[in-house]
Amino acid sequence: MDQASAAVSIRRVVEAAHPVVDIGKPKPVVPVLHPRQGLTRIRPAEKKALSVGVIGYGYWGPNIVRNFQLQEHSGVSIVCDRRRDALDKVARSYPELELTCDPMQVLRSPDIDVVAVVTPVWTHYELAKAALENGKHVFVEKPFTSTSEQAEELIELAEKKNLKIMVDHTFLFTGAVRKIKELIDAGELGEIYYYDTTRVNLGLFQHDVNVIWDLAPHDLSIMDYLLANKPEAVIATGQKHLNGVEDIAFITVYYSNKLIAHVNVNWLSPVKVRTTLVGGDKQMLMWNDLESDEKIKIYDRGVHMNTREGVYDLLVSYRSGDMWAPQVENTEALKVELAYFSQCILEDKTPLNDGYAGLRIVKMLQAANQSLQSRGAQVLL
Ligand SMILES: NC(=O)c1ccc[n+]([C@@H]2O[C@H](COP(=O)([O-])OP(=O)(O)OC[C@H]3O[C@@H](n4cnc5c(N)ncnc54)[C@H](O)[C@@H]3O)[C@@H](O)[C@H]2O)c1
Repeated sequence: MDQASAAVSIRRVVEAAHPVVDIGKPKPVVPVLHPRQGLTRIRPAEKKALSVGVIGYGYWGPNIVRNFQLQEHSGVSIVCDRRRDALDKVARSYPELELTCDPMQVLRSPDIDVVAVVTPVWTHYELAKAALENGKHVFVEKPFTSTSEQAEELIELAEKKNLKIMVDHTFLFTGAVRKIKELIDAGELGEIYYYDTTRVNLGLFQHDVNVIWDLAPHDLSIMDYLLANKPEAVIATGQKHLNGVEDIAFITVYYSNKLIAHVNVNWLSPVKVRTTLVGGDKQMLMWNDLESDEKIKIYDRGVHMNTREGVYDLLVSYRSGDMWAPQVENTEALKVELAYFSQCILEDKTPLNDGYAGLRIVKMLQAANQSLQSRGAQVLL
């Protein structure tokens, strides 16, 4: 670190009254500190209704901070990360923000209305719980928690305290997913037969979770939002090659009404693929999230089976009609999501990606992990 940035970081960090606890995995997420007298007052985000404290400024945290700063009704006041180098990065981009290595500075500050938890999965429960206990609304990264019991406890706590939980199911706020929802709800695809999605790339390898807990929350939350059918059972297979956690996995979800879904997640793919096929009895669609234009293509294609009296063979007719590509809104999903979160808090509405949505996804992830252990045994939901 050069002298100038070291000086910046020392000046900007709101020093804790206690030494910074290195919160390694075996140690508590929220350090057990003695009650602090006279916490440093945090300047509320200027002229914004909601002041936000962000915990975690690693890979995803910068996107959360940037998008909160774009909001009309909410803004970041303080960023917390246990790593000094992460805080140095914040100081370079946002010299006006307060910084701290101690999550308690954020969690217990009377000046903070909302805490955004952007740390690894295993820390979500303790940080979110402490935030709720201190009367803060919580924006928590996906997946919501490590277990469904933790999710249930947080939901109960938030309800008791009349606070909002929003789980960052970012994709629900993309133009593409919103358009697909619109098409499905309008009956354009007819009855859905299948949902088949591929989310593969090289890395980023995680150490604390397998590829299912890292990548599949995106697909499972999209499916949870789009598909009206009830998920009934999960089957998952996968393999560990490099660091002791599954780096490739295939998940099958059985839904009511013969709908079947398949999710392919992989950190060992030479190329990045983000494609989804949704097949219905009226039309089918393909969504390629890597396309800049024409992300979604709708195919007026399908199969019709009929039998004729006295003829025992099935008569199969294939329909191969037009393809069209609807217009898809391309505003950054996080910007839309965070505006919606502020609105939910200020107008006392329940977010569609609330704690219950987070819990449904955690239950599916747990079922997938359980199935993985037995090389694909069916786990009922
Ligand atoms: N919604 C999305 O599209 C999306 C994309 C990527 C990651 N994520 C999620 O965001 C979360 C963070 O992922 P990441 O890739 O940014 O991880 P990361 O490891 O790159 O960053 C996490 C940061 O949190 C800090 N941290 C950890 N525990 C802390 C604590 N107790 N107090 C203060 N700071 C702490 C670490 O020092 C690190 O800088 C995960 O839940 C991940 O699933 C979501």
